[in-house]
Amino acid sequence: MSKVLRVKGLRVRYPGGDWVLKGLDLEVGKGEVALIVGGTGSGKTTFVRAITCVASKLYHADVEGVVEIGGVKLTDESWEYVKDRIKVVPQNPRAALVYPVVYEDLVSYAYQVYKSKSLAEKAISNVSKVFKISHLLDRHVDQLSGGELRRVSIAKSMISSPDIVVLDEPLMWLDDNGVREVRSAIEILKLYDVAVVVLEHRFKRLLDLADKVLLLKDGVLNPMDGVNTGEDRAGVSITPEKPTAGERDVLLELRDVSLHVGSLSLNRISLKVKRGDKVVVYGLNGSGKTTLFKLIAGVLKPEKGKVVRRAETLYIPQVPYLYFTEGSLSEEARAVGAGHALPGLYSGRALSLDRSPFTLSWGEAIRFIVELSLNSRHELLLLDEPFSGLTYQDREEIGRRLAETSKTVIVAASSTEHLVYLKGFRLVELRDGTLTERGVVR
Ligand SMILES: Nc1ncnc2c1ncn2[C@@H]1O[C@H](COP(=O)(O)OP(=O)(O)OP(=O)(O)O)[C@@H](O)[C@H]1O
Ligand SMILES: [Mg+2]
Repeated sequence: MSKVLRVKGLRVRYPGGDWVLKGLDLEVGKGEVALIVGGTGSGKTTFVRAITCVASKLYHADVEGVVEIGGVKLTDESWEYVKDRIKVVPQNPRAALVYPVVYEDLVSYAYQVYKSKSLAEKAISNVSKVFKISHLLDRHVDQLSGGELRRVSIAKSMISSPDIVVLDEPLMWLDDNGVREVRSAIEILKLYDVAVVVLEHRFKRLLDLADKVLLLKDGVLNPMDGVNTGEDRAGVSITPEKPTAGERDVLLELRDVSLHVGSLSLNRISLKVKRGDKVVVYGLNGSGKTTLFKLIAGVLKPEKGKVVRRAETLYIPQVPYLYFTEGSLSEEARAVGAGHALPGLYSGRALSLDRSPFTLSWGEAIRFIVELSLNSRHELLLLDEPFSGLTYQDREEIGRRLAETSKTVIVAASSTEHLVYLKGFRLVELRDGTLTERGVVR
């Protein structure tokens, strides 16, 4: 089989840093799916930056070794060639779409590629049929479910008919329906002979689609043997018990709160959270968890009802980089009163505290923010889907840290898979705009 992507001895290091990739080899043929698994900060995103020429061009990294796409060896000047041959669907799916309406976005991109209105329209009509997204073209991007958004961004990546499509964490934030949508989109890519590279922490949901599964570790790729395909933990059960009513203070109270934003309406939501409570708000994509968190944090005001907050509250958004406002890790820590906890703040890896938070890998950023919040002066922590884009091991670690703290914690989760890490949490389910007490996760 002819290899569309050939990587030999790839080495990459960022300015002033050590080699992140240390001689990585990979070959992917037409219609093949290579699934790459790797720990937080192992270099997955760096690998994608290297094969798309972005590492040297935008990040000024040193890149050594050979990358061949469609038999053409890349040089520093290959930017233009690579642009249409290899398409990356980014980790944050919202970043793949620029315009508010799906069709507008696709057409403006297709026009850039084809420089002709009729060719652009033809390309869109083709990918819409293939990926079955015709009914989504008139939609506002924010009205798409997570799975639909992924499907649309994968379809968009096919407009220039690339040889290679790279999916960076395609299952992130997706509920079970969304996972199904992405799986079928990957099957379509295969069918159309695209070489597919998937970087995914929730790899167990994709193993059967992969032609090879590789582990990125210590800067090199190796076949991953003995992959455990079953779920590694028994599932969870929800025990319908009443949360214990102690004498502790009520830190948060929502009384009959209602709010409508776009097509979402939250109706007469009530919730009481006491000091030290651990709560998980479970709801599928689009159920309104983030909106609810913004109400709790005071970022949004209810139309009806009342939100009473009796503690300093820290809201940590789904995309960790949106949290950061400062120029360095130490300034971030000081800003929330966690300066005293430096420099032991980030376990597992010595990070330079002068470093910009925006250079952290996704997983590093989440780990850092969680530690920061646990050491902050805030009493009430709101974490919106903190398990997304993390290894199974990191999830376990974060679940443990949140369970241990004496702070009051509210976590959002869109997949029952995540409840495994939240045993002992009180589960409230957000569904059809109402919030229902379900019991305790066991
Ligand atoms: N712009 C940058 N400047 C300096 N160091 C960086 C930069 N981007 C990434 N790094 C470092 O390079 C290493 C690899 O990061 P990378 O983002 O490739 O990891 P990853 O495998 O994608 O992690 P994750 O699963 O958390 O997304 C990490 O140690 C990270 O801190
Ligand atoms: Mg990454």
